[in-house]
Amino acid sequence: MLAPLCPGTVTLVSGGPGDPGLMTVAGRAAVEQADVLLVDHLAPAGALAWARIDAEVVDVAKLPRGASTSQERINALLVEHARAGRRVVRLKGGDGFVFGRGMEEVLACAEAGVPTRVLPGVSSAVAVPALAGIPVTHRGVVHGFSVISGHVPPGHPTCTLDYAALARAGTSLVVLMGVANLRAVTDELIRHGLSADTPAAVIARGGHPDQEVRVADLAGIASAAVGIAPPAVTVIGEVARYAVPTLLQEVH
Ligand SMILES: C[S@@+](CC[C@H](N)C(=O)[O-])C[C@H]1O[C@@H](n2cnc3c(N)ncnc32)[C@H](O)[C@@H]1O
Repeated sequence: MLAPLCPGTVTLVSGGPGDPGLMTVAGRAAVEQADVLLVDHLAPAGALAWARIDAEVVDVAKLPRGASTSQERINALLVEHARAGRRVVRLKGGDGFVFGRGMEEVLACAEAGVPTRVLPGVSSAVAVPALAGIPVTHRGVVHGFSVISGHVPPGHPTCTLDYAALARAGTSLVVLMGVANLRAVTDELIRHGLSADTPAAVIARGGHPDQEVRVADLAGIASAAVGIAPPAVTVIGEVARYAVPTLLQEVH
């Protein structure tokens, strides 16, 4: 079980995909003990009901195209609050070490001499497909999965992904942060030989009451996903056949 939070420390709590019921028991215990909570926009807002009535809640949302708090500012706030002797909880969505910049915060605290604890959580990369009925692996069907960021499109100078390798890897492919670049991603995979018939699904707001699922083949999924707003996860591969659509769009 989780040892009690100590004053002057930071605990990185990975809050899962949005429903507080998907947080870990340790994560909940940390939220209950916190003096101050620094909260991301994809963190489970419902979990704040567990915080002490006198706890300070700081919104440090980093919205992709909206109001945002810089990573440097967040790092500085973590250190500031811990140095003031508070039990600091950094509440994030999913798992803080999966496209969550969690390690940057751990390193900033370490550099400042602030003791830090990391509590892992349920990443949307696995949980959101599951919430739509999709297993990322399935015995006899696929023996692995690759998780990638679609934040920058293929060919972008900062893109480090090898799409040719992904296209022939034989794994399920899970794309996070890929809504805006979905067509570029699917076109690139097809260009590198992944069959245009490969099943695909986009799941938006997984675990929230308005969860939405769109399914199509690889060639059609970008059109099927028109109108979908982030956050969303795309799954490409045979396992996407198991999607349970709440809104099935026919693609012609
Ligand atoms: C900056 S990444 C953070 C991922 C997070 N650390 C994790 O492990 O789930 C944000 C992306 O996660 C995905 N995501 C997070 N929560 C989601 C949800 N409830 N439904 C669908 N996608 C989600 C989306 O692809 C979103 O753009």
